[in-house]
Amino acid sequence: MAAGCSSTRFSAPDPVTRQGKEILRLWQGSMIAALCVGALVWFLIVYSIIRFRRRNDELPGQSGYNIPIEALYTLAPLVVVAGLFAFTMATERDVNATTAQPDLVVDVVGFQWQWQFRYPDQQISVTGGPEAPATMVLPVGRTVRLRLQSPDVVHSFWVPRFLSKRDLIPGIRNEIDVDVDEAGTWTGRCAEFCGLDHYKMNFSVRAVPVEDFDRWVSERQAAQGQEGVEP
Ligand code: CUA
Repeated sequence: MAAGCSSTRFSAPDPVTRQGKEILRLWQGSMIAALCVGALVWFLIVYSIIRFRRRNDELPGQSGYNIPIEALYTLAPLVVVAGLFAFTMATERDVNATTAQPDLVVDVVGFQWQWQFRYPDQQISVTGGPEAPATMVLPVGRTVRLRLQSPDVVHSFWVPRFLSKRDLIPGIRNEIDVDVDEAGTWTGRCAEFCGLDHYKMNFSVRAVPVEDFDRWVSERQAAQGQEGVEP
């Protein structure tokens, strides 16, 4: 309980994307709703313990049923679940929405057991190896389309600071949009057990201002153009 109260984020990581911030709001709303229900239940328990404690040996009033109370405790959870459902649907719709015109497209290929990030419009790519995990460089403040694909088994693209993960499934085209809104470097992981070296499928996401991103692309293009392969 103390750990859960460590911040107003209720232990969730600090999100760095627009989508992550929406997910955080849903998490905070759900936690506050749970705390309100919890407080009501705790209050009723304590009240009943004190108000109806045993004072003599007389049998308390016995009743077989109480229609209003039974209707209430059937309806109240339904209302709570319907509320959580509605907020979850709304958040899912926003987070899963993909724009028709992304500013940048990155093909994310998860393979046993590393990552490759291809930038088709820039004609560059970054491939990680067991000793040198791949880094995905992204521009801050732009909408980036991630096209997730796997040539072998199911992996899962997970950057904890994005507050979401999405599977890479052979034969299925999964696409998500991310709008990173601050610069920084964050760890990413494969979040689906995909074989012996699953634990080596770490990567980094480095978000930089647009000018720095453009410079990185030029350097990368020059290096790959000369050698014909990735530097
Ligand atoms: Cu890929 Cu676990």
